[in-house]
Amino acid sequence: MPESSIEKRFSMISTEPLNSEANFAKDVHEGLSSKPKTLPSIYFYDYQGSLLFEEICRLPEYYLTRAESEILETYRDEIINHLEKDTQLVELGSGSSIKTQLIIEQFLDEYKKAHYSPIDISKKMLKNSSYSLLNRYSQLHITSVAAEYNEGLKHLNLENDKAKLIIWLGSSIGNFHPDESTEFVKQLSQQLEPQRDYCLIGFDLRKDRKILEQAYDDAEGITAQFNFNILTRINRDLGGQFDLHNFRHLARYNEDEGRVEMHLVSEQAQQVFIRQLNNHYQFETDETIHTENSYKFSQSQIDNLARQTGLYVHQRWFDSQNLFTLVLFRKV
Ligand code: AVJ
Repeated sequence: MPESSIEKRFSMISTEPLNSEANFAKDVHEGLSSKPKTLPSIYFYDYQGSLLFEEICRLPEYYLTRAESEILETYRDEIINHLEKDTQLVELGSGSSIKTQLIIEQFLDEYKKAHYSPIDISKKMLKNSSYSLLNRYSQLHITSVAAEYNEGLKHLNLENDKAKLIIWLGSSIGNFHPDESTEFVKQLSQQLEPQRDYCLIGFDLRKDRKILEQAYDDAEGITAQFNFNILTRINRDLGGQFDLHNFRHLARYNEDEGRVEMHLVSEQAQQVFIRQLNNHYQFETDETIHTENSYKFSQSQIDNLARQTGLYVHQRWFDSQNLFTLVLFRKV
């Protein structure tokens, strides 16, 4: 098969507006006005934040990426063997696509041709990772979608005559509140055809507090930088006057809720002006901004999720240390 140019094998769909400044301003104002203060973790991922997350994935403490890659490397042939030849590979929150490369490669080995549709909120990230994949694999076609998950799934022209595998890796599902993830997986499930399609989701498992807290508070301080990136972004995009030195990074496992929480803790009583919002925000000493939840899962929670969303577990895999699980679902 002659290889065609990269441009011919690439297209990008973009939903407008993507995280517009107005939305950001509104969400920041609402979050900093509520009690306790919060900021949506989705705003970590501007280009800089996405790069920081890539760095996190290489940290010794952040076992999630290694465990999931181990599963993919070990069992990718089993995963691919389930699929039909023309399956479209759709990925939610693809980031740099490093892990998915393992699946794509396996798929190409087996079927010689592949159609990949990554959905991500960073356009720049999508373009970079797509081009590097297209450079590497001459029989790969990419339709990328710059959007949030919900929008992305809707906008993606999922040709209904084509089998698909929807991939959602990294335990990104853990950023959602359980009610929201059920709701979202229901929507996802609606995109699947029984007997034909699959959905592959990575879940971080519940485990010892110490391992969890270290994974979100690494010795190098990269996760702290990632957390602070949201304030950096407020300063840059909204004329915020946060002095980052007056806050510290906090990661703690909330065992009752089964989630690791990240916070930014005010080191002193202070008020911070944000020019674009024309508002001061008051902080007491030790008051926190809750910036992220990262839910951890038990086996039965995963089974319940399937039951509530019209899916069933087709197969599941674990890494050698049982830190993480990759679950292949089908529609009932
Ligand atoms: C990308 C949401 C899976 O929760 O583990 C990493 C993000 N936050 N370190 C996670 C994150 C702090 C990550 N997810």
